[in-house]
Amino acid sequence: MKHLIDILDLSREEIEDLINVSLDIIADPAKYKDACRGKKLATLFYEPSTRTRLSFEAAMYELGGNVLGFSEATSSSVSKGESVSDTARIVGLYADVIAMRHPKEGAPLIASRVAGVPVINAGDGGHNHPTQTLADLLTIRREKGGFENLTVGFCGDLKFGRTVHSLLSALSRYAGVRFVLISPEELKLPGYLISDVIEKNGIPYTETEHLDDVLPDLDILYMTRVQKERFFNEADYLRLKDSYILTSDKLRAAKPTLSVMHPLPRVNEIAQEVDDDPRACYFRQAENGKYIREALILSLLEVNV
Ligand code: NCD
Repeated sequence: MKHLIDILDLSREEIEDLINVSLDIIADPAKYKDACRGKKLATLFYEPSTRTRLSFEAAMYELGGNVLGFSEATSSSVSKGESVSDTARIVGLYADVIAMRHPKEGAPLIASRVAGVPVINAGDGGHNHPTQTLADLLTIRREKGGFENLTVGFCGDLKFGRTVHSLLSALSRYAGVRFVLISPEELKLPGYLISDVIEKNGIPYTETEHLDDVLPDLDILYMTRVQKERFFNEADYLRLKDSYILTSDKLRAAKPTLSVMHPLPRVNEIAQEVDDDPRACYFRQAENGKYIREALILSLLEVNV
């Protein structure tokens, strides 16, 4: 039984295959329209979501399959005190694949041990978000042509930003990558990622609080939202939330080939005027999320088209 809990569950070759299937889906969607006929995807979302849940559901519909699930825990038996493990065990009897988002780190892993069907981590607390990373990788492939020799800046909430943790882990496997970590002191990347991922792989990196100083060096700028829901103290959130605001004026100093990415939702960290800049790829990135989730569902259900 295959699951996707951590992006490193997938080898580079498996990621390559998912990207190639996504590109084929983009080129010829009609070929896939009955691929999952009769199959069901359950989306169990214990935390808010727009893109992840709806792109999973749209992906399953595009493949001719069906969708069931809940978008808030209060509308399920979770509100009666049911455990993640029991819920997953039952839903595994009703669906062929499960996508789960949960505020607790490790909840999808626990679900995967009992569900009896493939489980996909759709975001677990401030930990990981592997399917966003797949969307990000497809975007980088389409925008940049490949993953090697890129200088990637991660900016904003590197402490709680699970999309950063997963993408950084994925990119650490490609030659010539360099990381620039841009955050306030309180929102720096967790130490375990610096030691176990960046330093272990011998990747050159710098940490800074100042986006302007490093912007001209970047090939990719991955902006993130300060993760309000992970703060214990509202005053800290209010103090840090507008640490970085990318504007057209600031972007004048960046390379003409820069790709500005953001997993979305954005709050204030990218001014709306930037949306018209051809270097802004975050809406294309959100669209890519649907195609790569189609490829992932096909792979986990072992459907060959
Ligand atoms: C991200 C998430 O949920 O971690 N959103 C998403 O899935 N695209 C980023 C965020 O919420 O800031």
